[in-house]
Amino acid sequence: MNLKVKLISAAALLVCAGAAAQPKLSPNNIDEVLKAMTLQEKATLLVGSGWGSMVAGSMTAADASLVPGAAGTTRAIPRLGIPQTVVSDGPAGIRIDPRRAGSSRTYYATGFPVGTVMASTWNTDLVKELTTAMGEEVKEYGADVLLAPGMDLHRNPLCGRNFEYFSEDPYLTGKMAAAYVNGIQSNGVGVSSKHFAFNDQETNRQENDAQVNPRAAREMYLKGFEIMVKESDPWTIMSSYNKVNGSYTQQSKDLLTTILRDEWGFKGIVMTDWGNKKGTENAVIAGNDLMEPGMENEIQRIVDGVNSGKIPVADVDRNVRRMLEYIVRTPRFKGYKYSDNPDLEGHAKLVRKAAAEGLVLLENNGVLPLKDVKKVALYGVGSYDFIAGGTGSGNVNKPYIRNVADGMRENGFEVDASLENWYKQYIAYKKTEMANNKSGGMTIMLGDDVLPEMPVGRSFIEKTEKATDLAVLTISRNAGEGGDRKAVDGDWTLTGAEREMLQTLADVYHIAGKKVVVVLNIGGVIETASWKNIPDAILLAWTPGQEGGYTVADVLSGASYPSGKLPMTFPVSYFDIPSSFNFPYNYSGADSNNPFGSSDSEEMAELAAAFGIMIQKTPNVDETQYKEGIWIGYRYFQTVGKNVSYPFGYGLGYTTFAYSNPVVKVEKDGSVTASVTVRNTGSAKGKEAVQLYVTAPDGGLVKPAFELRAFAKTKELAPGQSETLTMKVDPYTLASFNENTSAWETAAGNYVALFGASATDIRSTAAFKIAKAQSWPVNRVLLPKTPVEEIKVK
Ligand code: BGC
Repeated sequence: MNLKVKLISAAALLVCAGAAAQPKLSPNNIDEVLKAMTLQEKATLLVGSGWGSMVAGSMTAADASLVPGAAGTTRAIPRLGIPQTVVSDGPAGIRIDPRRAGSSRTYYATGFPVGTVMASTWNTDLVKELTTAMGEEVKEYGADVLLAPGMDLHRNPLCGRNFEYFSEDPYLTGKMAAAYVNGIQSNGVGVSSKHFAFNDQETNRQENDAQVNPRAAREMYLKGFEIMVKESDPWTIMSSYNKVNGSYTQQSKDLLTTILRDEWGFKGIVMTDWGNKKGTENAVIAGNDLMEPGMENEIQRIVDGVNSGKIPVADVDRNVRRMLEYIVRTPRFKGYKYSDNPDLEGHAKLVRKAAAEGLVLLENNGVLPLKDVKKVALYGVGSYDFIAGGTGSGNVNKPYIRNVADGMRENGFEVDASLENWYKQYIAYKKTEMANNKSGGMTIMLGDDVLPEMPVGRSFIEKTEKATDLAVLTISRNAGEGGDRKAVDGDWTLTGAEREMLQTLADVYHIAGKKVVVVLNIGGVIETASWKNIPDAILLAWTPGQEGGYTVADVLSGASYPSGKLPMTFPVSYFDIPSSFNFPYNYSGADSNNPFGSSDSEEMAELAAAFGIMIQKTPNVDETQYKEGIWIGYRYFQTVGKNVSYPFGYGLGYTTFAYSNPVVKVEKDGSVTASVTVRNTGSAKGKEAVQLYVTAPDGGLVKPAFELRAFAKTKELAPGQSETLTMKVDPYTLASFNENTSAWETAAGNYVALFGASATDIRSTAAFKIAKAQSWPVNRVLLPKTPVEEIKVK
């Protein structure tokens, strides 16, 4: 070859090499793109594009050019054809800015029912229908991932974010979450199931260390996530802020790799919750692929970590590969042309109707559905200023909130005008006062604080009674991210003003032979035992989304009917709950034990070490011992036989149901098929959610009296109509976790299937036998340094 030819060949090679180093990302060349990336680029892809600012009540990504108001973005690498992607909150609908500079059009999103309402429907098909609609808004507003569902366990009723979460039961949580994920993702957008895991309190959520034994961890807190991962294919999962057994969850390889991926088979990416913790290197190694919202120093830490040998480059490559696999799935990568015009009208109709299935009728002495009522007196600020959903990142910028007064009018009732007028003036005045005086109580983040109840005198009530046929009292509560509720007046218990109003209304209306209905417009459990016998009916509406007041009034009028059942227990007293003693219910922020404040951040630890001072951990603030183990909710109350105000799984309808013909069959592989026939024995239509609890032989473990292993809901049944429900339980679902063997174990022996209308209303039972014990060993990981000393219940 002469020199000229040699030169031309070398140049051609260089061009080829150059071309090889500039591949454009496609689903088929992920390896090639990975090879072409510099270390700096790889680190860039593992870190989101940064914090923005608070706009229209939303904490936003730094880059608001794509979807203003979205919570975060990933970074683009244009030379390799890698676009930015957009992730946006949250569980009750997509949270974006409703207005944009220079434009008069609006970008409101539907305020869907919160997670607790979805779980109260016990209807996975309905949840999927709702989230399919929600996912359409995610896609049509140009986001790639919805930061939802929220699926931490209701460990304690005072957790400020319980409304975003489903239940006290991990099986119900897992099934609801799987339906949710499948609905959203059917649109070709992703989810980020959160917060993985043990984010069961908001007090000091950034640093709190959940100390938990493996059985409680796996049976209770991880089970819902396990079911969700196995029954849906979540694109992403969000690690939580807190620690578990000494390590931030985002830095726990046990949690994010050994359990989540090796044991459960999770294929997507893990992103952090919104922050920047020291130890980014450990997060990368643990398998936390994406740091959100992302900061430059995190990129630097990754680059330095690789250069110094602290982070194996193989770990970076593994995470980057997963990021690329995520990116090629996104609408943004596929160049989807979103409309900014989702079907808001259609979704509003769906929400109005569907939410009724999540409303729980707690009491009804025959007053509901309303008959012979024309004019109603609506008491309680919530009747005119309804709470649609909780606060914080779970708050949606919705176009409006229907209140109860609007809903009653929609349903043909006349609303007492002078009362409405008084309330409206009071609400306007209070809102201005609170806005002007932030220290006066406006401490709630992104959302509406509940106004104190307006005092209404007896004589006014007497006058109004004469002009009306019925009184409705709406009692409201709100909570959200960043704070827990308190076991005190005005939150867990009724305020003095609410109690007095309820009693006066009952006195005055009952003397006149008229009825009083209470509507509970609350995000979480409150005390009911001391007052539930005063009104004639109690409708637990929760916070059912933007159409809330319409849904409530539809149910009161009988235009629709409630078929929700409780996804958690309402205890008699807060202190009946085992975790009440390990929960910061009375934490005021003062920390007398800790000379450096309540945080045990690394800086504090270093400072303390320099002074030779031991930092005392403030119990339930810096470190929470999960001493109640698996004894949460009905597992505890049913096992020890403690009376509750309303049991798990409870809810009335406008009709009654009889259960018959319970049949249980065990297949060769140990799986169980249970069926029962449900008949509508009343005179109105309705739907019934049947719970299948199972009592298992102990197999060497202490086990709850029974546990929820399946559930099903009938279709709408007309009076006299029946339906046979069939539920399947595989042998693994029957297993309990044995810490000694580090295995899930299904014992051989005699079992009982209990078909329940609630945890205390078991309608029929059937015995069955499992012939052969089965076990599924897992890794002995995620252990506390010292085993947590748990309570003994039997
Ligand atoms: C919340 C997450 C949320 C994120 C982004 C965090 O403070 O804990 O649930 O997705 O912010 O807004």
